[in-house]
This record gives sequence, structure tokens and C-alpha cells, in this order.
Amino acid sequence: MLAVRSPGDTGATEKPIVLLWFWPLGVRFDFQICSSHFNIDDFILTDNRSLYSQAEGVIYYQKGINWYLENMSKEPRPHFQRWIWFNVESPTNTAKIPGLENLFNLTMGYRRDADITVRNEVTIKETETKEEFVLPKKDKVVCWIVSNSNPASGTSAREKYYTELSQHIKVDVFGAAFNGHQLKPEDYYPTLASCKFYLSFENSLHVDYITKKVNGPLAVGTVPVVLGSPRENYEQFLPNGSFIHFNDFPDAKGMAENLQRLDKDHEAYMSYFEWRRYYEVTPHLLTMSNEFIHPVCLACDHISNYKEYHVVNDLYEWYFKRKPQ
Ligand SMILES: *[C@@H]1O[C@H](CO)[C@@H](O)[C@H](O)[C@H]1NC(C)=O
Ligand SMILES: *[C@@H]1O[C@H](CO)[C@@H](O)[C@H](O)[C@H]1NC(C)=O
Ligand SMILES: *[C@@H]1O[C@H](CO)[C@@H](O)[C@H](O)[C@H]1NC(C)=O
Ligand SMILES: *[C@@H]1O[C@H](CO)[C@@H](O)[C@H](O)[C@H]1NC(C)=O
Repeated sequence: MLAVRSPGDTGATEKPIVLLWFWPLGVRFDFQICSSHFNIDDFILTDNRSLYSQAEGVIYYQKGINWYLENMSKEPRPHFQRWIWFNVESPTNTAKIPGLENLFNLTMGYRRDADITVRNEVTIKETETKEEFVLPKKDKVVCWIVSNSNPASGTSAREKYYTELSQHIKVDVFGAAFNGHQLKPEDYYPTLASCKFYLSFENSLHVDYITKKVNGPLAVGTVPVVLGSPRENYEQFLPNGSFIHFNDFPDAKGMAENLQRLDKDHEAYMSYFEWRRYYEVTPHLLTMSNEFIHPVCLACDHISNYKEYHVVNDLYEWYFKRKPQ
């Protein structure tokens, strides 16, 4: 499938070819989204492996790589071609497949020191907003949407905290993990908006691993209670005063008391939305296919705009040992 073509395409084109070697988790998506949604289209994105020898970039999704590297390209690599290691998981949920050192030219993921960083960004508004922020209608205090409770993926810290918290304050739980009510994608944002606080608990605790679990509540006007890396790390990505960090209180009981206090004190609660005058947050795309397409578009953009030579010879040393710079 060749998705992006120049007008009157005759087959001859100057745009670099980027090959998606396999579909992340087998999920297919429409390559047109790069131009229609992200306005990036200075490349040809394809999944057609016959174009390998012409491709300037080849994207490999980490989870799709076979343990013996059997399903990566076996053909010689053209001198101009760069391989991209694409991973969305934290180190806890990344398999250390042997032999991936000295194979890639670019890394792509959530870390600030990846070659291609993919994150939901908070951006500064061009002009300060004068109007008052209108709080969405709230009929729940604390909510949590959670689908994964597999301890092997590192979830025990957040579950322990949730168990303690829920002894002191009611938490409305949605999603598969605790037999909660499963939400349809179209219900995600309205449900988030109907809660005063949202538990933005990451599955594992790693520097820079701050995901859409925080972006969602910020986008709709709900205060995230974050559990993940230290507060200072969150402050590097989010306006101070937009979130509550789990370490702000000595324990879950203290957190529950604070949330109850804020539930009753409208003025104190509203102070968590002051940042909206100066910053804005874009809602992330909801379906899994759309979550993958954004990084893939950015990878293509990088391939068409940067030509430098580069070898990632310490992939795991970097990913598992070194803290983001
Ligand atoms: C893949 O590319 C080759 C070479 O350009 C072409 O012959 C073939 O029809 C393409 N396959 C698909 C499924 O588009
Ligand atoms: C990679 O290869 C393994 C085993 O050969 C296979 O099970 C897996 O589905 C392949 N992955 C992809 C994304 O093709
Ligand atoms: C951010 O807010 C916290 C809690 O109110 C405070 O302890 C911290 O010093 C603030 N950080 C900065 C950089 O202003
Ligand atoms: C990409 O990495 C490979 C493997 O380390 C290396 O042989 C090749 O020269 C690199 N190519 C570019 C364009 O950086």
C-alpha cells in the first residue's frame, strides 16, 4: 500500500520511501493520517517489502521482533538506509532480545534522549486566555480506568496504592482489570470529564514514562493524581499546579483526606486549572491504530529531514541502565 503520493504521480518521485516492516501488534492503520491529521507528508510510507532496497528508513516495532531476529530483513542494507527501533513500552515491559546492538540507526520512544521522541506535549498558548475556564459537569469524585492488572508488567505498586486509597475514599473503577465497566472509545473522554480527579497511575515506574494516562484528564478538565516517576520529573513535562503527585502526601490515607478536602473547597479545587490560561493540551487519539500512526509519521518526517549517519551500538545499555539525559 502506497499511501502518500504527489499529485499526478507517475511513480518517479523525490520523496524518501519509509518501510514499516511489520504492523505494530498486527494493528493496521491508514497511512493518509500522516497528512490529514498531522500535516506531515514529505515521504512515501509503505508496508510493501519489495521496496526494501529503495527504502531510506525501515521501522521495526520492538514487540514484533522475533527472539532469533528471524522476521527482520535478511537482505543487505543499502548504505543510505537507516533502521528505526520503535518501542512504546517502559523497560519493565521490554524484552531484551539478544543481538539488537549495532543494528539500529535511530531510536524512537517516549524518552527525551531518544533520537525521535514521541510524547503528548503540553504547549504554550500564543496568547493568554482571558475567559474563565468552564469546569465540565462533575458527578464523581475519583475515577480510574484500568485494563491491565498483570503483576508481571509491574502493576503491583499502583495496585497497592489503589487498594489503600479506596479504603478511605470512593473510587469509580472502569475497564477490564477489576471487573470494572468496560468503556467504549467514545465514552472515554466524557467519563474522564465527569470526575473531579483521575488516577493517572503508570503500570511501571520509570523516568520520563509519563503517558496518555495523564494527557487524558488534563485535556478534558480533570485533575490527574499521578503515580510514576518522582515529582521533579513530572514538573519537567507538566505545568506545576496541574497535577497532584502521589508523594505529595505521606500515604494513601493522607491523599484521600486531601482529595476530600478539595472536593468541598471549590476555590482550592479550581486553582488546579490556572495553568489553562497559559498552556494547552491536545487530546490524544484514542484507538490503538491511531496511537501507532503518530510515531510512524514522526519517524518518516525525521527520515526526510535529517540525513546524518548514526549507529545505536549500546541499545540496551542505554534503555535499561542509563537515565534519560
Ligand atoms: C509492491 O511493490 C512492487 C514493486 O514496486 C510491486 O510490483 C507490487 O505490486 C507491490 N505490491 C503491492 C501489494 O502493492
Ligand atoms: C515474528 O516471527 C515470529 C516467529 O517466526 C512470529 O510468531 C511473529 O508473529 C512475527 N512477528 C511479526 C510481527 O511478524
Ligand atoms: C511545584 O509545586 C510543588 C508543590 O506545590 C512545590 O513543592 C514545588 O517547589 C514546585 N516546583 C517548582 C519548580 O515551582
Ligand atoms: C546504520 O547502522 C548500521 C549497523 O550498525 C551501520 O552498518 C550503517 O552504516 C548505519 N547506516 C547509517 C546510514 O547510519
